[in-house]
Amino acid sequence: MAGKPKVFVSRRIPDAGLNRIREQCDAEIWPEPLPPPYATLKDKVRACDGLVSLLTDKIDPELLDAAPRLKVVSNFAVGFNNIDVPAATSRGIAVGNTPGVLTDATADMAFALLISAARRVVEGHAYSLSGAWKTWEPLGHLGQDLFGRTIGIVGMGRIGQAMAKRCRFGWDMQVLYYDVYKNEKAEKEFGARQVDFDTLLRDSDFVSIHTDLNEKTRGMFNAAAFRQMKRTAVLINSARGPLVDQKALTEALRDGVIFAAGLDVTDPEPPAPDDPLLKLPNVVVAPHIASATVGTRNAMAEICANNLIAGVSGEKLPAWVNPEVEPKRRR
Ligand code: DGY
Repeated sequence: MAGKPKVFVSRRIPDAGLNRIREQCDAEIWPEPLPPPYATLKDKVRACDGLVSLLTDKIDPELLDAAPRLKVVSNFAVGFNNIDVPAATSRGIAVGNTPGVLTDATADMAFALLISAARRVVEGHAYSLSGAWKTWEPLGHLGQDLFGRTIGIVGMGRIGQAMAKRCRFGWDMQVLYYDVYKNEKAEKEFGARQVDFDTLLRDSDFVSIHTDLNEKTRGMFNAAAFRQMKRTAVLINSARGPLVDQKALTEALRDGVIFAAGLDVTDPEPPAPDDPLLKLPNVVVAPHIASATVGTRNAMAEICANNLIAGVSGEKLPAWVNPEVEPKRRR
């Protein structure tokens, strides 16, 4: 390739990755705090060899068709449901993501949401600030015990295992899991027991979602699922918002079908300011920040840069979503 490869980076990412991208590529970095509109992104990638995308960028066939030179899409996230991967593969475009480095940060956040929702921490904070706190109340602010209870993990991948580990060894919980794959490591290390979805919903005190978003899993937490859960149950979602039917969740929380929820992700993101979910006392909502630690975001930026540079150079991506593209890659 004559000269440096031309790339577009759809948001400022940590210098740990950005500096390398700037050194090796002719890089344009979108400077705004909000994502580029779809039409702008399409225009920006027109002459590009590589693209760094975020989970807020929709990478669909139309966008890929607008970029005849594009060799790689390097997503600054482990999840890649924003990218039409088969469409990229069929056009010879490699796709990279950032697995592994955000596992512990994400499991920490899932656990933080669990303890906050089960013990009503955020509700208590609001109460303290409001001036309503008059005395110590024997019957006030009662939450759920965590120690020795049962956690149900939906999706026993890396992050599901890290959450199971915290629950098993920190809080002596029994671990149930629902996954299409058997996870022998989790069974051996945490005594995890694979069950069907209905059993997991029925028998778990807490349910934590760690599965991919795809057409099979979209909306899997619906009104019927909530009705099967314990009335004392707490639902945690640090995966993707559309895994949960948010209207059904709002009703379940409002009507006491389940006890509480802790969400790092919503559908849509952000939720509308007047979304009734946000008015409920028994939900904790974080703005999709599970991977937001300095160390984790730096590590994600490094992998993302390495994927991009490997992609524009025709090399193997260190974290490659679609290695099957290799024989027909654009060079
Ligand atoms: C991901 O990586 O998929 C998270 O949702 C954001 O870090």
